[in-house]
Amino acid sequence: MDLFEAISTRSCYRGEFNDVPVPREILTQVIETGILAPSACNKQSPSFIGIDDPELIAKIAEITPMPACKTAKAMIVCVSDSRPVYGDTTFYKEDCAAAVENMLLALTSFGYSSVWLDGALRRDNIAERIGELLGVPLHKRVQILLPIGVPATTAPKAGRLSFEKRASFNSWGDQE
Ligand SMILES: Cc1cc2nc3c(=O)[nH]c(=O)nc-3n(C[C@H](O)[C@H](O)[C@H](O)COP(=O)(O)O)c2cc1C
Repeated sequence: MDLFEAISTRSCYRGEFNDVPVPREILTQVIETGILAPSACNKQSPSFIGIDDPELIAKIAEITPMPACKTAKAMIVCVSDSRPVYGDTTFYKEDCAAAVENMLLALTSFGYSSVWLDGALRRDNIAERIGELLGVPLHKRVQILLPIGVPATTAPKAGRLSFEKRASFNSWGDQE
């Protein structure tokens, strides 16, 4: 799958996954695309934890009760480091976002789906509880969780506004 096909094919999948495993080699290659992502001042603030232990996946699914987590065959946790990298400026959310988009595209190209779970981790101390389970140091935070697998159902693709409503050339146009 070429890059443009991966970009247009990728979508967040929140349903159940089927029983197809995610090999460790695939997870490693996907995490490598996160490592290759740009980061502010190249400080490489995000860290990653690949999870392919079914017992651990089940424990995370208990903390994060969603069909995609319950049936995930693997997970990747993106861990942020909110320490400033330029004066007192932080870029940890942007760094994590760049890494996660790379990894979502890589997963798509391998035929797997996922969903970007960030907002979902911000209630009920879910991020903190996953961090504790995985031994994440207290100065770092579980920022984004990607449950991974092959979809068992088809889900509607989220639409996008037209090019004209999102973009223009040389000056502001008809963007909303
Ligand atoms: C910063 C950010 C946080 C997100 N958090 C969640 C989340 O907590 N739960 C969820 O189901 N989707 C989450 N998403 C996924 C978006 O809902 C999804 O990308 C959007 O609806 C567009 O759909 P698509 O990714 O399928 O194209 C998040 C996406 C971003 C960029």
